[in-house]
Amino acid sequence: MVALGADYFRALETPRMARLAPNVFAAAFPLMKLMPARYILDRACADGVLTAGTRIVETTSGTFGMALALLAAARGYPLTLVTAASLIDATYARRLQMLGVSLVVSPDEQGNGDQRARLDEVNRIRRYEPGSFWPRQYDNPENAIAYARLAELLVRTVSKIDYLVGCVGSGGSLCGTGTFLRAMFPDLAIIAVDTHRSVLFGQPAGKRLLRGLGNSVLPANLQHDLVDEVHWIGAYPAFREASRLLRQHGIFQGPTSAAAALAARWVARSHPDARVALIMADEGYRYVDTVFNDAWLAKLPGWSSPTLPEPILLSAIEPASEAEWTRFAWERRSLAEVVGAHSDNQEPAPGRS
Ligand SMILES: Cc1ncc(COP(=O)(O)O)c(C=O)c1O
Repeated sequence: MVALGADYFRALETPRMARLAPNVFAAAFPLMKLMPARYILDRACADGVLTAGTRIVETTSGTFGMALALLAAARGYPLTLVTAASLIDATYARRLQMLGVSLVVSPDEQGNGDQRARLDEVNRIRRYEPGSFWPRQYDNPENAIAYARLAELLVRTVSKIDYLVGCVGSGGSLCGTGTFLRAMFPDLAIIAVDTHRSVLFGQPAGKRLLRGLGNSVLPANLQHDLVDEVHWIGAYPAFREASRLLRQHGIFQGPTSAAAALAARWVARSHPDARVALIMADEGYRYVDTVFNDAWLAKLPGWSSPTLPEPILLSAIEPASEAEWTRFAWERRSLAEVVGAHSDNQEPAPGRS
């Protein structure tokens, strides 16, 4: 007999393909994190680490948690998610609670998602639940491996790919997809999209308005030496691009998808003969009251100029305002090689090997 539930999740984790320009091919996911969440749970089940009734515990800013919540509810696992006050809105919290999730919200006074406090909380919970399963999206290599399926879908759709553009949060999607694609196309250039005041590529941690991408700790799933160029995109150009995608293409994706689309369109304009593949992580519904709401946008300090900026090429890594967009030639180097003397900004995630 066919397991209908399994087929449904496979369909839900599959992106729709969209052509944003003659040489820009986008994989637009409803909920990208279903791909690694399903793979990680399947592997844990096969290895006997996850058995009936095992509690799953994870820290998440939203989409990985939602993916785990859907799967845990359908498969009957109890789930505790640790998130931060600045990352979760009431509607999303209600959806998670409807799925039976125990939600632990850490206070997060700095508004930077305080990943370290959340990881401490996960460790505290696991001391009380020693048999619990922690998917560890930040440093579990299975997060990245799950994207073999995306790489295959992209090759089937795009054929030869010259550039891969995607956001980085855990690093799983860009580095996983990029690793598999580079095995086929050794000259593939990988363009990482981050935001100002995220530590991922050597900026000091600080308050970030654009969420989902960026991080306040360094995940092991980010392989810096795969990356050719980094773009730091502020929240404002990402928000404007999200509306443009909806109005001009009918594509209703969230602001991290829009940030990646901005960078991909710029790469495609700069290299008209190249074929650019783009990863878009989630849909726009979660952002209806904010990113897609003119009244909310009008209250943002400095929200006035309707023009989308071009990226400013940096010679030294430094943060910029939410209205700006910067880029840096990373050239497949390690973090230590690039930031060198500035590396006291970096805090490795606990448990990172
Ligand atoms: C909306 C959104 N976009 C992009 C990303 C980045 O993906 P990854 O964690 O694979 O680097 C995330 C990660 O949580 C996300 O939630």
